[in-house]
Amino acid sequence: MTRRPILDVKHLCVDYLAEDGVVHAVDDVSLTLRRGEILGLAGESGSGKSTMAYAITRLLRPPAEITGGEVLYDGRARANGEMTPSVGPVDILRLKPAQLRAVRWSEIAIVFQSAMNALNPTMTVGTQVLDVLATHRPEMPKPERNARARALFEMVGIAAERLKSYPHELSGGMRQRATIAIALALSPELIIMDEPTTALDVVVQREILTELMRLRERLDLSIIFITHDLSLLLEIADTVAIMYAGRVVESTSAHALHRQPRHPYSFGMLHSFPSLRGEQRLMTGIPGSPPDLRAVPAGCAFHPRCPLVYAPCSQVVPALMTMPTDSAAITDSGEQSVACHRYDPARSEGKPLPTATEMEDGYATLSSAFQEAGKA
Ligand SMILES: Nc1ncnc2c1ncn2[C@@H]1O[C@H](COP(=O)(O)OP(=O)(O)OP(=O)(O)O)[C@@H](O)[C@H]1O
Ligand code: SF4
Ligand SMILES: [Mg+2]
Repeated sequence: MTRRPILDVKHLCVDYLAEDGVVHAVDDVSLTLRRGEILGLAGESGSGKSTMAYAITRLLRPPAEITGGEVLYDGRARANGEMTPSVGPVDILRLKPAQLRAVRWSEIAIVFQSAMNALNPTMTVGTQVLDVLATHRPEMPKPERNARARALFEMVGIAAERLKSYPHELSGGMRQRATIAIALALSPELIIMDEPTTALDVVVQREILTELMRLRERLDLSIIFITHDLSLLLEIADTVAIMYAGRVVESTSAHALHRQPRHPYSFGMLHSFPSLRGEQRLMTGIPGSPPDLRAVPAGCAFHPRCPLVYAPCSQVVPALMTMPTDSAAITDSGEQSVACHRYDPARSEGKPLPTATEMEDGYATLSSAFQEAGKA
C-alpha cells in the first residue's frame, strides 16, 4: 500500500544574494517524503542539500532568500490552538511565526551537519536537553523533564550518567547521538538529518545507523537523510533524490537507483563509492568538480563533466521527466524522474537510451582526457 505524503516540496527556489552575484542554491526542486519512509538526498559538496534542509524548516538567514515554491506538511493536527486545524497539508512557507513555532522542533526537527557546532560547549549536554524541554514543554513538571532526558539518552544508546558531561568530554559518536536525542526530545514526526554520520569512523557510523533504523521503526519516524555517500543511502532509504548544482537530476526508489541509475551523474556517483554490501562494481568516479554556483554552465549544468555530452546539452536546461522504471531491471514497478536530454524524445536526436556500458566507457575516456589536461 502506498503511504500518504507527510512532506511535499513543490518547485522550491532559494537564492543567496551575495555581494558578487546571485547564487541559485536550490532551483525549482520538488520532492515527496511519504509517512514512515526515509528520503535520501545526495549530491557533491555545494549542490544545495543543507540549503534545502534549512528552507524546509525556515531556518535560513540572509543573504539567503526563499524566492518561490511550497513546502506542504501534512502532520498530525495540534490541539493547542496555535496551528490551523489540520484539514489537509499546511504550507510551512506561509505559516505565521506562532504557527511556525508550533511546528518546528515539535513536529519537524533537524540534526545539523556538525555535531560539535550544534552543541553549546559551555553547557552540559543534559542542560541542553532540559532547556529544549523547558522552552517547548513548560507545563511538564521538572521531575518528568529529568526522566524524559534520561530516557532520551538511553533511547539513543548513551548511559544517562553522561547527561552531566560537557560536549568536549564525549566522543564524536556520543556527541552525534546527543544531537539526535535533542532532536527527538519533543517527539517529532519528521526528522531532517544533515550528514549525521559523515565525520565519524565507519564502525561508529554503522552503530549509529543501526540505532537510527531501530528508532525509526519504534517511533514511526519519517526521515530526510542527507549525505554525500550514495551507497549508504541505497541501504537505508526508501527513495533517493540526487542533486547537482541546486537541481534534482534524478529521483526514484532506492531499489531502482541501485539497479538502474539513469542519469549519468547518478551513475558516476554510484561508481564513486565502494558498495557496503552486495556485488562488486567497477569504480569509475566523476572527473572534475561541481561548478561555482555564481557561474553555472549554460544548458545542463553537468555537461562539462558528462561522458554522454552532445550538442543540445550546452544549450538547453533539461527538464525533469518522469517515466516508468524498466521492468526488465526492476522487480517492483514504479517511477523514475530524470533530467537528461538523452531520455527526452524531443531532444535525443535519435540517440538510443544510455546503457551502463556506454556510461562506463564514457567515464573511462573522460577521466583520461581530464588527466591529460591536468584537470582530474
Ligand atoms: N551564505 C552564503 N552566501 C552565498 N552563497 C552561499 C552561502 N551559503 C551557501 N552558499 C552557496 O550555496 C550552495 C549550496 O550550499 P549548501 O551548503 O546548501 O550545499 P551542500 O550540498 O549542503 O554542501 P555540503 O555537502 O558541502 O554540505 C553552495 O554553492 C554555496 O557556495
Ligand atoms: S543532458 Fe547532456 S550533459 Fe546533461 S546529463 Fe544528459 S547527456 Fe549529460
Ligand atoms: Mg551541507
